[in-house]
Amino acid sequence: MSRRRRVYEGKAKVLFEGPEPGTLVQYFKDDATAFNNKKKGTITGKGVLNNRISEYLMTRLGDVGIPTHFVRRLNMREQLIKEVEIIPIEIVVRNVAAGSLSSRFGIAEGTSLPRSIVEYYYKSDELDDPMVIEEHITAFGWATPQELDEILSMSLRVNDFLSGLFFGLGIRLVDIKLEFGRLYEGDEMRIVLADEISPDNCRLWDVKTNEKLDKDRFRRDLDRVEEAYQEVARRLGILPESGPRDLQGPSTIQ
Ligand code: TMP
Repeated sequence: MSRRRRVYEGKAKVLFEGPEPGTLVQYFKDDATAFNNKKKGTITGKGVLNNRISEYLMTRLGDVGIPTHFVRRLNMREQLIKEVEIIPIEIVVRNVAAGSLSSRFGIAEGTSLPRSIVEYYYKSDELDDPMVIEEHITAFGWATPQELDEILSMSLRVNDFLSGLFFGLGIRLVDIKLEFGRLYEGDEMRIVLADEISPDNCRLWDVKTNEKLDKDRFRRDLDRVEEAYQEVARRLGILPESGPRDLQGPSTIQ
């Protein structure tokens, strides 16, 4: 990994130049942050699990016709992705009240929402990712009205598909944060799902017990943080064969 040129480093991932033009290598770290970097820590094995979980979910989404940046997993912590121009908007789709929706409107966590609610946040660490409306997004040129239409309909499809997939595993998809990018191929441009889909950016609750199986365990100082990520991978059928002890293995093994 160190031989490659580093293109970008985020809080949970590093992007390196890929083997061919138009590709990047996405490396998953064990670092965890919350509240815009105010809380920092490590979740042992998270990078390995999120690499697998995101590979699995992006592949399934691709199977049902949702275009994504994912190409293939390279090793324990790295995956090959298509280079895209990230649209600086975080799309949050909510099915059940939790987190900032609950605190902002005083709605008890766990209250079912009458329909899925979509919110947009402007990606800016300096500004603390402020919530924005369509008017801001189009007026400030972050996305065109046509792009935003496509992003909204893709986000709802992703949410519906993943809600069903997780429900089959006894997990409720409470909410999810998505990011999209512009993929340029010759003269053509299309919007594709980017970033990652993992317990870092979804809320996942056990259907029977409401136990949290996501990064809220870290955000809220709950115990068994690592185990929550492992449990999601286990239910998806992708926990590395020899179990959690395998999770810190060398990053170059296929
Ligand atoms: P929120 O309730 O804190 O607004 O979070 C909504 C969803 O978005 C939740 O699944 C966690 C995810 N999320 C991120 O992925 N990144 C972030 O920076 C924040 C604030 C939330």
